[in-house]
Amino acid sequence: MGDNAKFSINGEDYEYPVLTGTVGPDVVDIRKLYGQTGAFTYDPGFTSTASCESELTFIDGGEGVLLHRGYPIEQLAEQSSFMEVAHLLLRGELPTADEYSDFTNTITRHTMVHEQLRGFYQGFRRDAHPMAIMCGVVGALSAFYHDSTDINDPAQRMIASHRLVAKMPTIAAMAYKYSIGQPFVYPDNDLSYTGNFLRMTFGVPAEPYEVHPAIEKAMDRIFILHADHEQNASTSTVRLAGSSGANPFACIAAGIACLWGPAHGGANEAALNMLKEIGHPDRIPEYIARAKDKDDPFRLMGFGHRVYKNYDPRASVMQETVREVFETLKVKDPVFDVALQLEEMALNDPYFIDKKLFPNVDFYSGIILSAIGFPTSMFTVLFALARTVGWVAQWNEMISDPGQRIGRPRQLYTGPAKRDYVSIDKR
Ligand code: ACO
Repeated sequence: MGDNAKFSINGEDYEYPVLTGTVGPDVVDIRKLYGQTGAFTYDPGFTSTASCESELTFIDGGEGVLLHRGYPIEQLAEQSSFMEVAHLLLRGELPTADEYSDFTNTITRHTMVHEQLRGFYQGFRRDAHPMAIMCGVVGALSAFYHDSTDINDPAQRMIASHRLVAKMPTIAAMAYKYSIGQPFVYPDNDLSYTGNFLRMTFGVPAEPYEVHPAIEKAMDRIFILHADHEQNASTSTVRLAGSSGANPFACIAAGIACLWGPAHGGANEAALNMLKEIGHPDRIPEYIARAKDKDDPFRLMGFGHRVYKNYDPRASVMQETVREVFETLKVKDPVFDVALQLEEMALNDPYFIDKKLFPNVDFYSGIILSAIGFPTSMFTVLFALARTVGWVAQWNEMISDPGQRIGRPRQLYTGPAKRDYVSIDKR
């Protein structure tokens, strides 16, 4: 703990403890502020507020650093696997060989969904956005798995977490299959987590499906890059929903709803659409000019981040992965050239330099997902699939925290003061 922070209001002086984390900014503990002073703090968008204590993920936005339980994202993306990262986030450490085998076996045994859940899909229109289906189906899991909704039982919490991580690829692949009118493909537990997802998405019952090792590796890396990201909007949504004691399936459905927005998980879809719309490097200056124009609501999608004021480390890994996949598949996509040149032009433009706007994870992810064969509407679904690991890890951490309380922000009220009701004939 550092020195106390001094605070004066209405002529009275107060002191609040300053808490120090392992790394990162100190935090002024203002939990007693309202009780002592009668004043709230005002922080729309929580730009200066730490909402919880966490051991999971650390971001230094100024330096472009992302660590999961201390491990840099670049090392995890290069050397680890999504299942290892899931173990790291959920259980606290990278697994030993035995722990790894035990963990993957546990997840694999939960990949099937209740057979009746399949019928649930028929209630959706075929042209429904797969994120709409995800919100509904994941929320509906709480109606199917009653034996893992007691949040006060750590064993049930862990079963629910395993179920969510394991079933998400199945549910996501089914959402895709439903939208294109193909039969659902059951999981094949001989395959890896990621290979299984690719088969359930792109395989058909009529013929065997070979998982391409390079695609499997790239996909797994994309999942690692999206596994967790500190207290972002969707994670905070999961925590807030969970703080009331809501069951984990409902909480994750809330996180999916939040992730859907174009300022958050929906940005990868928007970024690729933007790059396609630009179409040719010659048109980049026009779009840069629009992004800088205060009277034009257009923004460079996949650029800028609330926390990163430097290159998002996930964007560099993603750019590298695009190159690798294109080389392996021997494909070229003019959109990638547009992206590279747009990035270069923006990073040399004073507007983007002054505002510290760099490519974020979403800038390149759409290009690679499209090359693998996913339609844009599935991009955010893949993000949700991977982030489920982070969501459940954060949710577990919150529920196990003895200091946890229901989340209940306050406000600066600017509406009318008390006034008397006037009957309709006198208004
Ligand atoms: N293009 C052009 N200008 C931008 C952009 C952009 N992509 N992003 C921010 N700015 C400008 C804003 O106009 C603002 O300018 P001003 O200070 O002159 O008003 C300034 O930079 C700060 O922007 P804010 O919106 O206040 O920053 P905030 O931290 O609230 O927003 C956000 C971050 C939402 C990510 C924003 O940069 C954005 O909209 N980016 C495009 C969408 C996107 O890529 N989202 C993905 C985020 S990553 C993720 O969710 C995985």
